Amino acid sequence: MSDKKRILSGIQPSGAMTIGNYLGALKNWVELQKTDEYECYYMLADLHTITVRQEAKDIRKNAMDLLALFIASGIDPEKSPIFFQSHVPAHVQLSWVLNCNTYMGELSRMTQYKDKSRKHADNINAGLFTYPVLMAADILLYQADLVPVGQDQKQHLEITRDIAQRFNNTYSETFKVPEAYIPKVGARVMSLQNPAQKMSKSDTNENGYILMLDSPDAVMRKIKRAVTDSGSEVKRGEGKEGIENLMSIYGAVTGKTMEEIENEFDGKGYGVFKPAVAEAVIEALRPIQEKYNDLMSNKDYLEKIYRSGAEIANLTARKTISKVYRKVGFIQP
Ligand code: TYM
Repeated sequence: MSDKKRILSGIQPSGAMTIGNYLGALKNWVELQKTDEYECYYMLADLHTITVRQEAKDIRKNAMDLLALFIASGIDPEKSPIFFQSHVPAHVQLSWVLNCNTYMGELSRMTQYKDKSRKHADNINAGLFTYPVLMAADILLYQADLVPVGQDQKQHLEITRDIAQRFNNTYSETFKVPEAYIPKVGARVMSLQNPAQKMSKSDTNENGYILMLDSPDAVMRKIKRAVTDSGSEVKRGEGKEGIENLMSIYGAVTGKTMEEIENEFDGKGYGVFKPAVAEAVIEALRPIQEKYNDLMSNKDYLEKIYRSGAEIANLTARKTISKVYRKVGFIQP
């Protein structure tokens, strides 16, 4: 067994992937994988997706698209298993045990649960409520040290740590207590139409988000239409949240700091800045889209990847679940 530190992270195939998912999570997974310091497991969180009502055919399409985008963005499946959560039964098995060690009170404090229950008032199901427990199971099964996510998942990481610590105290040392890895730039990409709201694939206004598979024209149009303020200076500050969001997108794709961006566009105005942001995003997406198109014409290869990913993930996950079952007192089969 490798003595490298472990990473686990995941993205839900619940709609097309946005550049928020990429800049907040996937891009950093690729960078962390490149350091060779970690053994990484990357998951397509399909079980999570059905907490909100979905068409089965959409899940199937989004899941394969997302798998291809993981690889097209630079995840090397030879190095890091990529797998579907639903192909590893231990996620559901552990989530039951953890459900019995998690309090209603702590789950009802989750802001994502409150947000989603407001948005889907006609379907506040039990899965939506216990979703953070399934997420804790995802992470703890792999004894992950580090979990690279965007800012919106921070609270779920905190509850994962609480659940792990509580279980360890009750049943003796069982789980690694994981740390969140939240990037300095790109951790919270906001809607282009409402900079007070995070960019989300479930936004009803398609001008609010940029998808990984958006055409260059669509990217240019959406960024040109992005809501800003009535001023003209490319600077951070009170009332300039729209511009600051575009600056952080530009910074995340070019590697430039906010100061460098302010200097670069000093005295130039939004008419120069917005097309420059759009061009930088288009250039960042171009090679990913090309690779994605190649991959989608090779379904056999994609199938091979997720099958072998699940095989490796199952081996690791089974070890943890049998340890957990033993510790809680179940007779070994
Ligand atoms: P999901 O599918 O909503 O988002 C996937 C990743 O993208 C990040 N993200 C963003 N980052 C910056 N700006 C944004 N606007 C933005 N929108 C999304 C998220 O923080 C996340 O890192 N519950 C998770 C999936 C999951 C998971 C896990 C993650 C399931 N099990 C175990 C880590 C570990 C989710 O719904 O992410």
